[in-house]
Amino acid sequence: MKLAIIPGDGIGIDVTREAVKVLRTLDRGGALSLDLMTFPWGADHYLSTGETVPSGAFEDLSSHYDAIFMGAFGDPRVPDMKHAADILLGTRFRLDLYVNYRPVRCLDDRLSPLKGYSARDIDFVVFRENTEGAYVGAGGNFKKGTPDEVAIQEDVSTRKGVERIVRHAFEFARKTGRRRVTMSDKSNAMRFVGDLWQRVFAEVSSEYSEIESSHLYVDALCLQLIKDPRPFDVIVTNNMFGDIVTDLCAALQGGLGMAASGNIHPGRVSMFEPVHGSAPKYAGTGRANPFGAILTAALMLEHLGRKKEAEAVERAVAACVAARRCTADVGGTLSTGEAGDAVCERLTG
Ligand code: NAD
Ligand code: IPM
Ligand code: MN
Repeated sequence: MKLAIIPGDGIGIDVTREAVKVLRTLDRGGALSLDLMTFPWGADHYLSTGETVPSGAFEDLSSHYDAIFMGAFGDPRVPDMKHAADILLGTRFRLDLYVNYRPVRCLDDRLSPLKGYSARDIDFVVFRENTEGAYVGAGGNFKKGTPDEVAIQEDVSTRKGVERIVRHAFEFARKTGRRRVTMSDKSNAMRFVGDLWQRVFAEVSSEYSEIESSHLYVDALCLQLIKDPRPFDVIVTNNMFGDIVTDLCAALQGGLGMAASGNIHPGRVSMFEPVHGSAPKYAGTGRANPFGAILTAALMLEHLGRKKEAEAVERAVAACVAARRCTADVGGTLSTGEAGDAVCERLTG
């Protein structure tokens, strides 16, 4: 199992260390044939060398590794996020990782923020389109810095792009026995892209008659998610709405420190990262919760055909939360490193 490890910035470095610790624990006796290569790409590297990603890097990643694990990017010294655009969005775009898979599972009743709802009521999946939308960087400035300044940011959806993520959502529902796929957009206000999403969703859903299809405008989706999360099974939406909605969904799981994600192109080298960012104020303080990163490692293991190990990691994290062997954001008193150790102890004990 040859993995590229890119810790990045801030708490990305802290939580990646713990995810790697868990992988190494599982690899005892060579059980995973783990072969890790760590890359220094991030704000420090960019500020000291001027390089974000070396040339040829994406070709190397996509041909010499089984998967990529990233921490997080973002540093106050790089206000335009130039390095994150090149490293994080670059990986998503250049490797064509069109599926942003963000499972939403609450692992402990105590972590449910919703009055009257327990952990088992919060169990669904968000598929965020990951290669188009408002993220393509199409647009520009005109008369910048003058009172007549114009800024344009285009929201691009393609027939191919919408169809493949919608189809992936239905295929996932079929494979995993989920009964409903909900598409969310803003087609009441954004007619051009909205119309495309609506038509493609209707067409693709007609091929999956055993799965119920439903639609919610994204504002209504936000309301429904916190009013009653039980009806949701699979949600599919565009890049930006998916970004926003999955932070809200992180809150349903106990906070950003608990949320995992995969950036996937089925059959190709894919990338896994926690949903949270670099939280600079927590960097190196031991306050970052490593469980989102550790659960992300579990997603990666499952993707690489190691379902048994993935389930063991998830059970170990749930057990640690239940025993309050966790960081303060989820009700414990442990540091980042101690929380990672607690998961490893569960796995070996
Ligand atoms: P953030 O996710 O870094 O942090 C927001 C807040 O959530 C934190 O202040 C903290 O209270 C909490 N939090 C997040 N992760 C946590 C963890 N593991 N344990 C405990 N608490 C946690 O989001 P932000 O403050 O909006 O952004 C900080 C930087 O990260 C920015 O530069 C942003 O662009 C970047 N960012 C990067 C990614 C990524 O690389 N994938 C994702 C989101 C944000
Ligand atoms: C995420 C992050 C990124 C995104 C940022 C850092 C560009 O918020 O992965 O959720 O918006 O996709
Ligand atoms: Mn985000």
